[in-house]
Amino acid sequence: MKKRIGIFYGPTDGATERVAKKIQEAFGTDNADLIAIKDSKAGDIDKYERIIFGCSTIGKDTWQTDKPKPDWDIFRPEIEKINYKNKLFALFGLGNSITYAAVFVDSMGILAKEMLKHGATIVGRVPRCEYTFTDSEALIDGQFIGLPIDEDFEADLTDRRVKEWVEKLKSVFD
Ligand SMILES: Cc1cc2nc3c(=O)[nH]c(=O)nc-3n(C[C@H](O)[C@H](O)[C@H](O)COP(=O)(O)O)c2cc1C
Repeated sequence: MKKRIGIFYGPTDGATERVAKKIQEAFGTDNADLIAIKDSKAGDIDKYERIIFGCSTIGKDTWQTDKPKPDWDIFRPEIEKINYKNKLFALFGLGNSITYAAVFVDSMGILAKEMLKHGATIVGRVPRCEYTFTDSEALIDGQFIGLPIDEDFEADLTDRRVKEWVEKLKSVFD
């Protein structure tokens, strides 16, 4: 039986939400739920065996609760409480590969490294050669740990990037 997918994302009302919706549509709304991470606890993640996490990188502010849009920082204490057994995770990250070329989609990498420390299985890696940037925390073993999306300078590529990534994930998630 096909496993239902939980797409947990933050912040809301911006590029991350826009891309989360595109990913949901690509899987089909009957197959995937869309949930704001700021309203979620580890128990909400545990309802799913196939999970997608989406975040944007707003410098270090992504992980500072005293800044606007701290959605992932609110959730951060829950990361270690998730039951990582028998689950597959995939990540996508919003960033800007020109203005922030040396820290491109860093938050996706910071999130992934915390999850890996707790034993997460992360699928859906993306080759670095498809992007122009100088460095990223999201590079693990020479590949992006998830799907980078640049809506600031490469929005015209988003639909294709999402479609290709989801097609690959479909076979892994089944
Ligand atoms: C103050 C600020 C800091 C940012 N820092 C980074 C960064 O360090 N790395 C990066 O790749 N993008 C950075 N960005 C770009 C955002 O990640 C990008 O615009 C993203 O699409 C925002 O998504 P959101 O609207 O869902 O927050 C930054 C944007 C702003 C406004």
